[in-house]
Amino acid sequence: MLRVGIGGGSGYSGVELIQILLRHPEVEITFLSSERYAGDPVEVLFPHLRSLIDVRFSKLEDVSQTDLDVLFLALPHGEAMRLVPQLDNIPLIIDLSGDFRIPAPEVFEQYYGFAHTAMEQQKGFIYGLTEINRDQLRGARRISNPGCFATATILALYPLYRKAWVDGPVYVDSKTGSSGAGRSPSATTHHPRRTQSLFPYKPFSHQHIPEIEQLLDRAENRLIFQPHSAPFVRGIFASHYMQLIEPKTAEEVRALYQEIYSQSPFIRIVPGCPDLSCIQHSNFVDIGVATDDRHLIVWSTLDNLQKGAAGQAVQNMNVACGFEETLGLTASPAFP
Ligand SMILES: NC(=O)c1ccc[n+]([C@@H]2O[C@H](COP(=O)([O-])OP(=O)(O)OC[C@H]3O[C@@H](n4cnc5c(N)ncnc54)[C@H](OP(=O)(O)O)[C@@H]3O)[C@@H](O)[C@H]2O)c1
Repeated sequence: MLRVGIGGGSGYSGVELIQILLRHPEVEITFLSSERYAGDPVEVLFPHLRSLIDVRFSKLEDVSQTDLDVLFLALPHGEAMRLVPQLDNIPLIIDLSGDFRIPAPEVFEQYYGFAHTAMEQQKGFIYGLTEINRDQLRGARRISNPGCFATATILALYPLYRKAWVDGPVYVDSKTGSSGAGRSPSATTHHPRRTQSLFPYKPFSHQHIPEIEQLLDRAENRLIFQPHSAPFVRGIFASHYMQLIEPKTAEEVRALYQEIYSQSPFIRIVPGCPDLSCIQHSNFVDIGVATDDRHLIVWSTLDNLQKGAAGQAVQNMNVACGFEETLGLTASPAFP
């Protein structure tokens, strides 16, 4: 059994990791951090996990004295870059924040608003979009887990970019649920503000833009990306609008996706339009397409805490450690 720790075990991504790892046959959770709940057993904060896990929260600083095989970091941006340089002894670290996703320091600073302080370590990180970087992830020691919006849009557009089928810009209209903002409410994320509303934020400036552009780099296809806060708890629903160089039928586009993702167990190419309620609580990404001569719409939907965070992080651990890619991740989506 691998000894696994979670920095930020008390957050939404952290608890999603706990829930997945409890179903994983090759690991044992031995370290969970929380500054606020240090010393408390897990059920004090998460009563639904009573009798399922016997670990107390610790201070994050205690991680350096803990013997771990794998450490997941589910902390606010800026914390992992402070910690990682002190943790050379941990064989595998998977960071869920944005700290190690962007190799160019000036681009990082432009989108995150503060300077990067661990660029030397950054070079050792593999970008963990599993379906695209699977070969590089085998045996990896440092993995930066992608953002949830970035995962939805890269997977939706990658086959088209690989074949250079798109003519001109791609317009991305993406919606996220409230759990994407984490456990602590803020003025724009807490329930009364959000539950009856829908509003855009960060036009032309969301921090996932450079992640998407570094994987989908075709100067001819500028990406115009607009995220929205939506009134559901879990999920990303992304719509991508574009024009094709040659006319294609929906069947031809679906066949391309089936071919490119034929070895990817979590990508489902669905007939018609995908639906958020078909992927919630699972690691699936559902992709649907519609065409009208040269116009194409591609929809992708995923659970932000699963494929958008903890699920993809475990998928990456599985690939890095040589386990079956789906281990611990085969729970069905939960409906209703
Ligand atoms: N939520 C999502 O859908 C999602 C998706 C993809 C990626 N991510 C990324 O995952 C990371 C965690 O997000 P989240 O939504 O799970 O956040 P969250 O619910 O707000 O949890 C944050 C966690 O970090 C801990 N923490 C906060 N400040 C700390 C500090 N200064 N030192 C040590 N620990 C600290 C908190 O512990 P306490 O108990 O002490 O407060 C808590 O465990 C973020 O970088 C986020 O961008 C999130």
